[in-house]
Amino acid sequence: MADDAAAGQPTDRDEINRSRFLAQATVAMGGAVGLGLVIAILPTLWPKPELIAANKGFSPVKPDEFAQLKASLDKPVKINFQKRVTDGYLVEDQDYYVWGIHMTPDEEQSFKNERPELFDPKSSGYVSFPVGTLGFVMFSSLCPHLNCKYAWDDSLKGFLCPCHGSQFSKTGVHIRDKNGNYIGPSPRGLDPVPVQEQNGAAQVEWVKYKANEPGRIIVSYF
Ligand code: FES
Repeated sequence: MADDAAAGQPTDRDEINRSRFLAQATVAMGGAVGLGLVIAILPTLWPKPELIAANKGFSPVKPDEFAQLKASLDKPVKINFQKRVTDGYLVEDQDYYVWGIHMTPDEEQSFKNERPELFDPKSSGYVSFPVGTLGFVMFSSLCPHLNCKYAWDDSLKGFLCPCHGSQFSKTGVHIRDKNGNYIGPSPRGLDPVPVQEQNGAAQVEWVKYKANEPGRIIVSYF
């Protein structure tokens, strides 16, 4: 070895130092790439305010689906619509749907009694738009737990989320079992979205709320 050093050849110690340097450089590069990815992904998780404002707005409901909703007092109707969405660069039409509920006047009153948080400005579950007016409510199709798409289940006569089993009544109340425990982990009842009538046609506004929070925090309109 002494001969190697004397001859200008790499020694064992040189090899160990080189390996250690390469290992540390690899870890540092991996960390930098990871940090870059986190920085790139973060804005997509929480949209910028100007992007939120740009995507706010109502979309028309298809007349045949609204007619179907008007005729359906026993079960919800899936209401499909397209929304023009921009990510700041591209503009495109994307497909969305909500669950529409048509209520009798008695059901409308029960809805207000069963979902007091929606109407109480002091509640974290309050929504600042009229809800349950004219006998209609539309619920976001995203489960309040982790945003899976739930669906109406005829045998339950309620909504069921396939991901973790949360169950909701027709009016969006998070259902409890006979022991009083909530069925499934949803932190709140179903989330309503704004509905309005314009020139005799129904319109709906897509609203995305923060998942897995007891309160309703609007995250975006796309
Ligand atoms: S996403 Fe619906 S219960 Fe978890």
